[in-house]
Amino acid sequence: MELLRVHLLVLLLLTEVALARAEPQTMGESVGAAFAAFVDAYQYAKCKISMCCEKPWLTSNFTGLRTALNERLYGQHLAMHTVVQAVKAHFDKESPQKALVLSFHGWTGGGKNYVASIIAQHLYARGMDSAFVHLFIGGLHFPHSDDVASYKRQLRSWIIGNVTACERSLFIFDEVDLMDEGVLDAIKPFINHYPQVNGVDFRKSTFIFLSNRGGDDITQRTLDYFRAGKPRDKITLREMEEIITTAAYNEEGGLRYSQLISGHLIDHFVPFLPLERQHVMLCIRDYLKLMNHEPTEDRIKTIADSLQYFPKSTQIYSAAGCKRIAQKADLIMQAEMDQQDDIFRNEL
Ligand SMILES: *[C@@H]1O[C@H](CO)[C@@H](O)[C@H](O)[C@H]1NC(C)=O
Ligand SMILES: *[C@@H]1O[C@H](CO)[C@@H](O)[C@H](O)[C@H]1NC(C)=O
Repeated sequence: MELLRVHLLVLLLLTEVALARAEPQTMGESVGAAFAAFVDAYQYAKCKISMCCEKPWLTSNFTGLRTALNERLYGQHLAMHTVVQAVKAHFDKESPQKALVLSFHGWTGGGKNYVASIIAQHLYARGMDSAFVHLFIGGLHFPHSDDVASYKRQLRSWIIGNVTACERSLFIFDEVDLMDEGVLDAIKPFINHYPQVNGVDFRKSTFIFLSNRGGDDITQRTLDYFRAGKPRDKITLREMEEIITTAAYNEEGGLRYSQLISGHLIDHFVPFLPLERQHVMLCIRDYLKLMNHEPTEDRIKTIADSLQYFPKSTQIYSAAGCKRIAQKADLIMQAEMDQQDDIFRNEL
């Protein structure tokens, strides 16, 4: 109600501005010009107040995106380079050839969700809460293989509805490996090279798939580099792409996914490597700072020690990457505070 009143007020005001601005030419022209100016101004004012599919709600903050990934994503040189370039190229194009499709691969905790949300944060004013950003979680939204037909129908109508409302929509599909493969079929027409589907142009939208697919092979290759004494940032995108696509063909249930690959519908494969203890320590430091705790070496070490590492013999990689750090850190900080309370009580 309040919003409506504001709209009406703005409307009245703008009519006056628009009328005053219109050049006094012939009557017809001036009314036309006034009307056009009015529509522009109204649109502008309306988008200041409520969410619109344009600036300032679409932020296109690519510099910020690069900085954020540089400063907050650890140990993922391939993701870092690919993501910024791909996203910027797509958003800079007035009429892209097809929707942008990124496929993130790797075991949990490597930063797949994190990167997806950092992308959302820098392209949409409300980030993951934007009306133009849609998150679907395989195991949550599409759990039963009996209901595939209805999932497909629903998903299709959602995607069409959302892209009709905003061509620059972002769709994130998490846990793609838990989605029945038929659901992927529903997405296929939207990420193909068609100019239009059902009269809607999907080529400005972005789709991000997140999965563990290929995770074992990505880890193995990273470990090979480590054992050969080669730095991990020498791993190339090309070799990882090959590993991921091969894994998709060979892994159970990879058929539909491999159709996306062979149809060249996926634009970029983005590998997320397993994280070493040194990377995890950086995540811990960030978390402590975020929680307003001093990130002392002792604290960071205690928290890092409470996590699990693999392979058994060498303990190089964190089993859950930077995930679960929050829980571990909270526990340890709580224990520290309890201890201080005890000391305090004993002194009394
Ligand atoms: C762009 O992103 C950076 C890094 O997150 C942020 O500090 C900055 O305020 C953003 N700029 C705009 C205009 O939103
Ligand atoms: C957009 O997608 C959401 C799911 O993220 C759905 O709830 C909503 O109904 C869709 N909007 C339209 C207009 O289809």
